[in-house]
Amino acid sequence: MPNASGIHVVVLAAGKGTRMKSDLPKVLHSAAGLPLIEHVLRVAHSLSPDSIVLIVGHGADHVKKAVGERLGLSFAVQHPQLGTGHALLQAEPLLRSVEGTVVLLSGDVPLLGPASLAALMQAHRTRGAAATVVTAVVPSPAGYGRIVRREDGDIAAIVEHKDASDAELGIQEINSGIYAFDLAPLFGALREIGSSNAQGEYYLPDLVRIYRERGLPVATVTLNDAQEIAGVNSRKELSEVDAILRMRKIDALMASGVTIVDPATTYIEPDVSVGIDTIIRPNVYLEGQTRIGARCEIHSGVRIVNTSIDDGVVINNFCVITDSHISRGAVVGPFARCRPQSDVGEDAHVGNFVELKKTTLGRGSKVGHLAYLGDSTIGEKVNIGAGTITCNYDGTTKHPTIIEDGAFIGSDSQLIAPVRVGRGAYVAAGSSITKDVPADALAIGRGRQVNKDGWVSGHKKPQG
Ligand code: UD1
Ligand code: CA
Repeated sequence: MPNASGIHVVVLAAGKGTRMKSDLPKVLHSAAGLPLIEHVLRVAHSLSPDSIVLIVGHGADHVKKAVGERLGLSFAVQHPQLGTGHALLQAEPLLRSVEGTVVLLSGDVPLLGPASLAALMQAHRTRGAAATVVTAVVPSPAGYGRIVRREDGDIAAIVEHKDASDAELGIQEINSGIYAFDLAPLFGALREIGSSNAQGEYYLPDLVRIYRERGLPVATVTLNDAQEIAGVNSRKELSEVDAILRMRKIDALMASGVTIVDPATTYIEPDVSVGIDTIIRPNVYLEGQTRIGARCEIHSGVRIVNTSIDDGVVINNFCVITDSHISRGAVVGPFARCRPQSDVGEDAHVGNFVELKKTTLGRGSKVGHLAYLGDSTIGEKVNIGAGTITCNYDGTTKHPTIIEDGAFIGSDSQLIAPVRVGRGAYVAAGSSITKDVPADALAIGRGRQVNKDGWVSGHKKPQG
């Protein structure tokens, strides 16, 4: 294999996640908009591994489907789930013919960064260890396995919280559940792990004691930032991890020149990019593959999903914009909704209570108030009056509306699609337009007004 790194990642993701109290497998719960397992697979890729094996079990089909097919990734099923040691053993058939190092990650530890993984590999190699454990010293170690050290400071064993003595419970150095293992002794030793412990499970951390008994070198790497190894076992921990990921993103954006008025109420997913001198006001959600240019203003209460926004755009309060594109200098909202495949042109204006769907609005065009434009192609410098509606759906099929450059659509008009309004044409207010309007024409599509003089007093009953 070209450029083989000799690194094989195994990710444990077979557990039920009982403490989540959920029908959804734990690793599919989302933090900062991405499933936990996605965060872990991303950091795994930073090692450029030769292969990744994902151990699935509880909800295996669901997890496999969510993760999908990826280059170098294969799945091993653990059934039943007898513990983390038993879980890693399930990777053996897939790794039997390879040599090198297994890096073991937990599907429920999503904050680990690439630098820490690189430090793990570095320590593992330079120390010539058979196993290297990532540890951290934390103020509240409850729930984690404790690192028990010998007098000379070397690691002796890992003791699970539920099996720990009172003295061991006082140890603040914890096992992260992240390790590097030399492949050669690994699977043989895994088979020696027993299950006579508080949980009746085959504990992977027992390998440390087994290696020690065999005289194999075991090293540790202690992270300075203990936050990175926070595991998600409950909804509370999920929300804590979510908050950390969110603040990481916000800090990075602020460092790169974006003003975020209220970080506490700003929700920006990891893949979003924002250009310099853009101002993001409180209570804004930027999701998915959203890209926002420089010098934009995003006002309060806005949600933007998978949308590309060019430089100098203003999105006023309470807009929802999905799978769309907004061009340079455009102004949208307040209270506008751009549904998928909307494309708002340069310096165009989409005002309050306007809904666009699959609609292109040309440069400098304006749709200021209370309108629905669906399946429409609108040219440049078009003015769409208040209350205009494209009647794009006949109950069976969606039909297009085309409005050419410079046209003027009077207020409260219905454009019954398929229909075309030609270049520079005018549509009188209150019209129902059922036929194409030629360029330069005025179309009037409404009943004529009749005034009946004296009608009111003629109908009035005599008073008293
Ligand atoms: C584990 C470690 C503990 C460490 C902690 C760090 C063990 C026995 N304990 O505890 O020392 O401090 O992680 O977060 O390893 N899994 C399987 N199959 C199983 C059981 C678990 O795939 O049969 C997976 C889970 O889906 C999860 C990971 O292994 O992704 C860890 O399992 P979990 O039950 O959360 O272990 P902890 O109790 O957190
Ligand atoms: Ca865990």
